[in-house]
Amino acid sequence: MTHRTMTVVGKALPRFDAPGKVTGTAVYAADFAVPGMLVGRVLRSPEAHARIVRLDFTRARALPGVRAIIGAADVPDVRYGGAIKDETVFASGKVRYIGQPVAAVAATTPEAAEAALAAIEVTYEPLPAVLDLAAALAPGAPLVHEEYADYTAIPVFHRDGNVCNRARIVVGDVERGFEEADRIFEHRFRTAMVHQGYTEPRAAVAQWDSSGTVTVWSNTQLPFEVQNTLAEILQTPPSRIRVVVPGIGGGFGGKLRVGVEHFAALLARRAGRPVKVATTSEEELTAAYPRQGAVIELKTGVTRDGRITAKSGRICFDTGAFAGSGPGVASVATLVLAGPYRIPNLHLEGLAVYTNKTNCGSFRAPSGPQSNFAVESQMDIMADALGLDPLDFRLRNIVREGDEGPTGQVLHAVGLEECLRKAAAAIGWHDRRPEPGRGKGLACGWWTTTGGSSGVYVKINPDGTVALNTGAAEIGTGALTGAAQVLAEELGVGLEDIRVVSADTFATPFDFGAQGSRTAFAVGGACRAAAADLRPRLFALAAAQLGVEPEACTLADRHVVAGGKRIALAELARLSQQTGGGLIAQGTFIAPATTYDAKRVEGHAYPAFHSPSFHAHAVDLSVDPETGEIAIHRYVVAQDVGFAINPTYIEGQIEGGVAQGLGQALSEEIVYEGGRVLNANLTDYKMPTMLDMPRVESILVQHPGAAGPYGAKGVGEPPNIEPPAAVANAVAAATGLRITTLPITAEKIALGLRDAQAAGT
Ligand code: MOS
Repeated sequence: MTHRTMTVVGKALPRFDAPGKVTGTAVYAADFAVPGMLVGRVLRSPEAHARIVRLDFTRARALPGVRAIIGAADVPDVRYGGAIKDETVFASGKVRYIGQPVAAVAATTPEAAEAALAAIEVTYEPLPAVLDLAAALAPGAPLVHEEYADYTAIPVFHRDGNVCNRARIVVGDVERGFEEADRIFEHRFRTAMVHQGYTEPRAAVAQWDSSGTVTVWSNTQLPFEVQNTLAEILQTPPSRIRVVVPGIGGGFGGKLRVGVEHFAALLARRAGRPVKVATTSEEELTAAYPRQGAVIELKTGVTRDGRITAKSGRICFDTGAFAGSGPGVASVATLVLAGPYRIPNLHLEGLAVYTNKTNCGSFRAPSGPQSNFAVESQMDIMADALGLDPLDFRLRNIVREGDEGPTGQVLHAVGLEECLRKAAAAIGWHDRRPEPGRGKGLACGWWTTTGGSSGVYVKINPDGTVALNTGAAEIGTGALTGAAQVLAEELGVGLEDIRVVSADTFATPFDFGAQGSRTAFAVGGACRAAAADLRPRLFALAAAQLGVEPEACTLADRHVVAGGKRIALAELARLSQQTGGGLIAQGTFIAPATTYDAKRVEGHAYPAFHSPSFHAHAVDLSVDPETGEIAIHRYVVAQDVGFAINPTYIEGQIEGGVAQGLGQALSEEIVYEGGRVLNANLTDYKMPTMLDMPRVESILVQHPGAAGPYGAKGVGEPPNIEPPAAVANAVAAATGLRITTLPITAEKIALGLRDAQAAGT
């Protein structure tokens, strides 16, 4: 296609799902209802690790309004799970964390369901529990899964006792690298377990029909993944499981795997009536899929003039009682630990470790904030120790065009230097400590655009509009608006002409799902493929009508145009419906593989970053010396997005990612004591509100990549990565106090300043 000026992509056009969402008419899964629906509720373990010696439903069954009660004995005996099949629907034999499902009930009212839960009799015999990383890794520690070696797992993983994966990157010779260094720095960091904080709880309605097909309306990010997992759990072919996403009030990785869908489907099958299950805030904070807490140890060698010669390190993730995303997250972490730096010698490990806590999962840039907090905090510590400016120190070591990534991938479209320079300039870096108690911090990083395939069906309607049918869900990011913009651009129509049908496993083509910053990138890629299929057909039809050559045709303004003649797409669609079967196309996309050096990795599920993005954050803040409270004056993000398909929604992702990142940086922590969550409510679990948010300034840097539409890279996850490190570095600049654990609460700062004063520093 001859290139013309872009009219739809690159424009800040309003999203197609906005009117329903801003007027309140959009239907989310938590709103969704069908006639005759029962209420499902889950009974959860009060013990961190215990044998179940008795489970008795007799009293509960006799209560009014109770229609079904199920436990492990009532469901297929199946182990499931993405990376390691270590999960069961209900605890069987023993419980492994406080909050683990033990039974579920369906009743006519919420009160009847609650009464039934209270009437279920369970006797537990407590077992020794491992409640943190140190306990789980200690020699002779009790095993969370004694039978772990018998579980089905992705073969690449290195498993050993409570370690459910040990991923490794080895490059060069770190010992020799340390010998070449003038200074060696060793530090240890710790981060807290945090929740995604989506506005809508996990919710699902399940209904079986007389053919033995179950329809599940759920707010999952991955309808096809849920379909397959339900097929395993229900022992029913996937073709009898229809998963439909009505709407999602946020996911951020917390809605990737079955959460409540299986309870709804199993209870509905037992009760013979539709069942709805939705979680409470307490269930969310005790038994969802939060971000793993982590301990990170880093040892880095640097020459006097600021060149990094070697880095070794280890990040241990507390993944909870089941592996969840942990083994993969541990792999990804090693690439983040390497950082966007040229380092000739690396020895980096990521461990996912079982403990008797909730099953951690994926959260926007899984492993990113934890690893980046350590890497970028240490960069500033080392710069200070060497008497170098932290910006200059980074610029001396960052990757540039054509460099190798840590596992040998060749890096292209590397916008990192531009991001760093622009973020620093915007924050006024030349004046890092403008007044006592005020300081500026900088952090940078890199991230992947997740692969996986996407398919779309596209149909030109006889009124000239275009139907876009995709298996991906719109999870609130605007990514499907981005994909629709790509389709509109490629077909010469307006965004307002695109009608989107999405996320229904019976009706829409396969999509790897709304995860990993991939949706606009991959669905957009599929749209381009579908348009490429349609164009010659449109041109052939139009050429015959207009009496021109197909080669002379182009698409513009809802018409095929050739010289001075033109014919509307509407007319071509009508014509084709009468004589040619209609204008329907499919398009598929899968990101090209990224080559890497397989000899450098072990136990690794994610050895390269595809279409990597690069970013730098800068923050200007003040610290109250008495209370330790932080006031953020300005926050700047410079992000290489490749190509900005819709600048407004990218800025939205940046602002939202920074808000979540500042929550992790400053206040959020799921606090465990003795295996129990102490703050399982949204008053004590402190997420930032709009009153806490600074103004976020976004600078979109555009170094187009080779794989994505118009050069676009993934944009959704990156803004969540750098805020903790940027804040830690600014706090150090403002006060001289280095906080190495998240969250950086006012209390930690106040106590730290007091200690420093007492020590006379
Ligand atoms: Mo994401 S953590 O891949 O939704």
